Amino acid sequence: MRSDERVAVLTSGGDAPGMNAALRAVVRTSVHHGMEIFGVMRGYQGLIDDEFEQLNARSVSNMIQRGGTMLRTSRCSEFHKESGREKAADHLRRNEITSLILIGGEGTFQGAIKLSEQWDGKIIGVPGTIDNDIYGTDFTIGFDTAINTALDAIDKIRDTAEAHERTFIIEVMGRDAGFIALDVGIGGGAEEIDIPEIPTDIPAMIDRIKAARERGKRSLIIVVAEGTEHGGAQALAESMKAHGVTKTKVCILGHLQRGGSPSAADRVLATKLGVYAVESAKENEHLVMVGEHNGKLVRVSLAEAVGKKKPVNHFLRELTRILSA
Ligand code: F6P
Repeated sequence: MRSDERVAVLTSGGDAPGMNAALRAVVRTSVHHGMEIFGVMRGYQGLIDDEFEQLNARSVSNMIQRGGTMLRTSRCSEFHKESGREKAADHLRRNEITSLILIGGEGTFQGAIKLSEQWDGKIIGVPGTIDNDIYGTDFTIGFDTAINTALDAIDKIRDTAEAHERTFIIEVMGRDAGFIALDVGIGGGAEEIDIPEIPTDIPAMIDRIKAARERGKRSLIIVVAEGTEHGGAQALAESMKAHGVTKTKVCILGHLQRGGSPSAADRVLATKLGVYAVESAKENEHLVMVGEHNGKLVRVSLAEAVGKKKPVNHFLRELTRILSA
């Protein structure tokens, strides 16, 4: 049955594995409901530049397993200005879009709230970021793949760390949040995990490292989030050096954590959230983010999703104190 809905979808901010799976779900659910569906290229930049492409069920064939995003993405400075958002709103009106679905992280959702001051269509957010730092959903699309990619890298670093009897400081992404570092640290058997949410006492950490060496540990792994108060792995290595620990190696995993084919968990989450985003637009929801909490699909206001801080699990960090014996 045909519908009057004209849905536009975009991906914005850092790409995350599973964004294509979410796009596939959004496109095919829209087609299923007889809605017209348009892809906007390069996130908010495409709204400003009027880059809308009509999509159909075939546009998203062979996409579910691909990393990156078929619509491309960007960090759009022009959209921070009111004049940029005016252009975006104008193009949404000219293309007669009734609902806009945005797949991205906190910056994307903040932009969406601002856009709602200039455009009165429905806005639905889908959390897509490797950082997992969005309040209101247990997991964001891309997090599971990113932590598995980082773990794979750490397993390889362990081989050389053990061969040379070295201490490695491994930096993972996460912007100003420690979710990636926590899970990767626990999953990778790290002796220490340094995250922004729990300040690290460097002299105490060094004492623990020395004690571990004395207990016969030949190699050590310290996982550090890029956004710690020290300023990531390099800065931590320098602080440790200043406290007399010189022989450390730093490895910054960087953007490799954003690439690759999405894990099964990310494909399933992206599919569920993509479908639910379109259903939410159909039910006339506005300025909400779709997510999953305790196994159930949920909707939270975008204001809440960006305004509240998602807590990290302190217990996980404490576990390293027991498990690094
Ligand atoms: O938000 C995702 C993320 O990968 C962060 O973990 C990281 O801090 C940031 O994006 C890097 O952004 P860019 O690719 O623009 O340098």
